[in-house]
Order: sequence, then structure tokens, then C-alpha cells
Amino acid sequence: MTLIPFAWVRACSRLLGPLRRLVAHGWLRESDVDVVLKLLHPALRLNRVFALVTQRQWVADDMLELTLQANGNWRGAQPGQHLQLYLERDGVRLSRSYSLTAVQANGRVQIAIKHQAGGRVSPYLLEHLAVGDVLELGPVQGELSWPETPDAVLLLAAGSGITPLLGLLRAALAQGFSAPITLLHYVREQGQRAFAGELQALQAQYSNLQVRWSLTAATAEAGELTGRFTAEHLHSVTALPQCRVLACGPAGFVAQVQQWWQQAALPGALQVEAFTPPAFNAVEGLRAVRLGFARSHQQMQADNQRSLLELAEAQGLQPAHGCRQGICASCTCTLLSGTVRDMRSGALFSEPGQPIRLCVSAPHADLEIDL
Ligand code: FES
Repeated sequence: MTLIPFAWVRACSRLLGPLRRLVAHGWLRESDVDVVLKLLHPALRLNRVFALVTQRQWVADDMLELTLQANGNWRGAQPGQHLQLYLERDGVRLSRSYSLTAVQANGRVQIAIKHQAGGRVSPYLLEHLAVGDVLELGPVQGELSWPETPDAVLLLAAGSGITPLLGLLRAALAQGFSAPITLLHYVREQGQRAFAGELQALQAQYSNLQVRWSLTAATAEAGELTGRFTAEHLHSVTALPQCRVLACGPAGFVAQVQQWWQQAALPGALQVEAFTPPAFNAVEGLRAVRLGFARSHQQMQADNQRSLLELAEAQGLQPAHGCRQGICASCTCTLLSGTVRDMRSGALFSEPGQPIRLCVSAPHADLEIDL
């Protein structure tokens, strides 16, 4: 039940300044204030960002685009970034990171969610989240950005890697970018060509845009390519030598693009973003270590092969986390003593007080963390 309409929630944010000052001076607790505010509307909070689901739209057989209207605490985002989304299920707080497919100045954003079989979050969002529900939004992150030069642009996407690139493409076209743009999207089959209808309409509207799909597990139709990324797929790309290239997809796909880029030695620039775990550096032999969780007053016999996030979960703890790939920073924790190894680079860290990302850090020697 809501006592005030959502339209008032955004306006109310400006009126909460005195309460914020009382909280800042320790006269009130933010959590107590929030308990009262959410009685007025579930999206009303003193500082935290909550958003109302205003629209659901299927954009592929396995992908849903959500339109969200944030409360007045939203501080904005850029196309190409991703945001953290929180929800509570069965008393457990869950979090995932999703790319923004559209960003508007009034706190209205769109994200696209791909179904992950066996996942705890995406099946719920796709099947049960309804228009009118409220979700908490977390920090916005991500470095992908539309090139600042007026050169041709090549967008390479695999699977849900299309989502941040679509956000950038929509914004660039709306702002009048007029150099050639080629978008090449790799999907397993026809039904996974996310946003196909919109992309075909944009291609008809903007003569500088060329969109192509490559099917990796089905027979291609006329005009489509077949198979995984290869340099041969780029033969028809307009102004390829001058292109600024943006690539997003699973780590293997991004690695293939990077390898092509190095061999081609093009003079432009390459930006990449991978959203599956990078290949971990596995040079260390198996070793037992003692791992302490200071806040939880727990200790465990661990090994040096698994991430601290996996080890904590195996111990029954529930650390906050999102991407599990070292990107979103929501699993960041403080190292109190001992040594950890960055599983991506193999680098060792042993400075007490150092922030570490649990999902990509493994124990190197006995250690204690602030969890
Ligand atoms: S869960 Fe995202 S950085 Fe660890």
C-alpha cells in the first residue's frame, strides 16, 4: 500500500534535507527514518536509491528490457555503464549488475536482463517482477564510452554484450553522430537477436548505420554471417582502418577481438568490456591456508585455489556481491593480515587495510579479512 503517489516521491527528496542533517549529526538514525518513509511509499528513502518498475518489454526470446524510474536520490549515469540492482528473496539480499540500455535526465533508465538458466536473480526478474514493483539500485560503474573523435565506429557484441553498446549507440544517434557505424552482434540463434526490430528500424532511419548478425549455433538467413568472431567477418566494414572499436561480451570473445586487434595493428583505439570471469592465473600449486573472518568470529581451513568469495560462502557466510568477475566492486572487503593473490594477474597483496575484491582474490598465505 502506498500513501503518496510516486510522483511525490521524487519531489519529497528535496524536502528531506533537514532530516539528512539530523542524521549527519547523529540525532537520528537513517534506518529509523527510512522505516517511516517507506510507509509513505516503498521507494521513498533518505539517501538510498530505489526505483519503480514502469515497463517490461521482451526484446529477445531470452531477454527482457525493464524501464525504471528512480527516486530523487538518483545521481545520474552515462550510457555504456552498468548499475547494481538489489533484491531480497527468502530473507537473502541478492545483487547483480546490469548494463544500461538507455539513460534519461529525469531519473528514467532502462536495463536489459538475459535469462541465466539456474540463476537466482534473472529467472525471478524475468518471470515475477511486475510493473509497479520497487527495486533498490546501487552504484553505477563502467568505463565504456562513445569515442570522442568523428571517426567511424565498429561495435562488436556477443550475447548480452549488446546491452551497453546499444545504450551508447542510441545516445550517439540521438546526438547526431554521422560517421559510419557498423554493429556486428554474435548470437547462438535467431531468437537471441536482442533488439533486432529496433536495430533494423534504426538502420532504415540512419544511412550511416549498418547492423549485422552472426549465428554461432544455427543456420544463418540471407544477409547474416555464420560462426564465431573472425577477421573475415569484418571485410565489409566501412572505413575499417580508421574505426574506433568497442567490444563487449564473454571473456573468450573479448580475448579473440583483442588478438585480432593486435595482429591487425590498426591505428584507432579499442575499448573492451568482458562480463564473464577472466581466465584465472593458475600457476600456484594447491596449498592449505588458515582463513579468518574477523567480524563473524569464524575461522576455516581453506585452500589457495578458490576465491575468498567462494570460500566465505562455503563457510556459510553471505558476503555482498554482484558480478563475481572483479568489475562491480560490491564484494570489496578489507584485508586485515596475511597475503592474497589476485587470481587474474597473479599479483600478491599483503598491506593491512588494503581493500580487496573477494571474488577475484584467493588466499596466498594464512590471512584474516574484515568479514
Ligand atoms: S562481485 Fe563484483 S567485483 Fe566482486
